[in-house]
Order: sequence, then structure tokens, then C-alpha cells
Amino acid sequence: MAVHLFGTPCKMDEVLALGKLYDIPVIEDAADALASTYKGKKVGTLGKLGIISFNGNKIITTSAGGLLISDDVDLIAKAKHLSNQARNLRPHYVHDAVGYNYMMSNILAGIGLGQFDVLDDRLAKRRAIFNTYKTELAGIEEIEFVEDVQGAVSNRWLSTALIHSGVTRDNLYDELAKCNIESRPVWNPMHMQPPYEMFPYYGNDMAATLFEKGICLPSGSNMSDAQLEYVVSCIKQILSKKLV
Ligand SMILES: Cc1ncc(COP(=O)(O)O)c(C=O)c1O
Repeated sequence: MAVHLFGTPCKMDEVLALGKLYDIPVIEDAADALASTYKGKKVGTLGKLGIISFNGNKIITTSAGGLLISDDVDLIAKAKHLSNQARNLRPHYVHDAVGYNYMMSNILAGIGLGQFDVLDDRLAKRRAIFNTYKTELAGIEEIEFVEDVQGAVSNRWLSTALIHSGVTRDNLYDELAKCNIESRPVWNPMHMQPPYEMFPYYGNDMAATLFEKGICLPSGSNMSDAQLEYVVSCIKQILSKKLV
């Protein structure tokens, strides 16, 4: 599984090489990464299968649901079948496997398609927000913005940052809330979620470290310049106090 978290493409060459070495098909979780690219190609199209989310908080939304991508027509046909309760064509409701109700209604699909007309504007806005944070907060040692890996261009769905010494991520989160600004810790790693935490974990604690230090800053496509300026000035003030 290759995950392009927060819209930022992961190192696909390395993941695909590992997949090839061990003969494991690569599935791309591009839930956040609509229109992000890796070496000139859209992420979600590089593995055996890819998914993109159209959940309510995404750049384009159908309120829930998403998109499955593959050049393997048989896999797509199978997924479509399972997503429609595995009903076969007979009129008396025969389900030839255990299926799921994952079909997107035509109304929601229409709402989603209509938004593709404004996708470029929304991408430009998200990227401009990230660049503003990066430029305005440059030189403040407590906050670090992670650059794209080589050859990657993120859609900057969410502007994320790592918070270092002097201030903790939770300090910043709490202080922003006092300024009436909603932020959010980066996602809690899967191996630390209650249903999985009793299982063995293989890794170097990178995900746990990112979770401890990472924060998602306000990034909505409809943020006004004044709102962005306000968020930037609050972050500057909070970090200058060096809370511990
Ligand atoms: C990496 C990643 N995968 C999957 C999901 C879940 O997507 P959905 O809400 O469409 O189920 C999210 C949600 O933002 C996500 O960030």
C-alpha cells in the first residue's frame, strides 16, 4: 500500500520496486491526493489499483464516496459488481457473492463532476495557502514545512507542519483554538488505533513521531486572504511565546 498522505506523493519508485521484487501488487491510497503528480503522472494511476476520496472535506466532494482507478478492466468490473451488492442481472435479486452497497448515486456523481470545472482554481488556492504559510513562517525554528519528494507535486490538500522544540504540537493546537482557529493533529497511525494496538508493530516509530509533532493548518479553498493573514499572525504570536 502506498499512501499519498495529505496530498503529498510518497516515494513511488521505491514502493513500486519493492512491489516488483516481492511480486506484491501496489495499491495507492490517493484519498487526499486528487491531481497530485509523481514524475509527471497523476498519483492513483501508478499502481495496480488507486483510490481517491470525495469525502466532504476533500478538494472536490460528493459528500461521501470516491473513485477507484485501474487499467485492469476485470478488476474494475469485479469491484463494480461487489459495490452493487454483487447482484447479477436476473430480475429476482440473486447475489452471487457477499457484496456491499458502495454505489454512488447519479445525483452525487453529477455534483462531483460539476466541480471539475473549478478544480484548477481550488488547486491553485490550496497551493497558494501552503506557500503563504511557508514564506510567512520561514525562519521560525519551531515550525518546519516538509518539501515534496523529488519529482513530486502535491495538491496541498492540507497544509501540514512539524512542530519542534520550545512548543509542542498540542500547545499550538490549544492556543489556536483559543484564537477560534481550528487545526488538527496529523492522523493517528493505524498501529496505534485501539483495534490494532495489541498486535506486533514493525517499524522505526517514524509514524508515531510524525503524529506527535505534526499539525494540519487551516487550508480550505474558500479561505479569504484576511483569514489566512489572521491565522499566520496568531501562529507567529503563539510560537514567539515558546510555550512548553
Ligand atoms: C490517507 C487516507 N486514506 C483514506 C481516507 C478515507 O477516505 P474516505 O473518508 O473517503 O473514506 C482518508 C481521509 O481523509 C485519508 O486521509
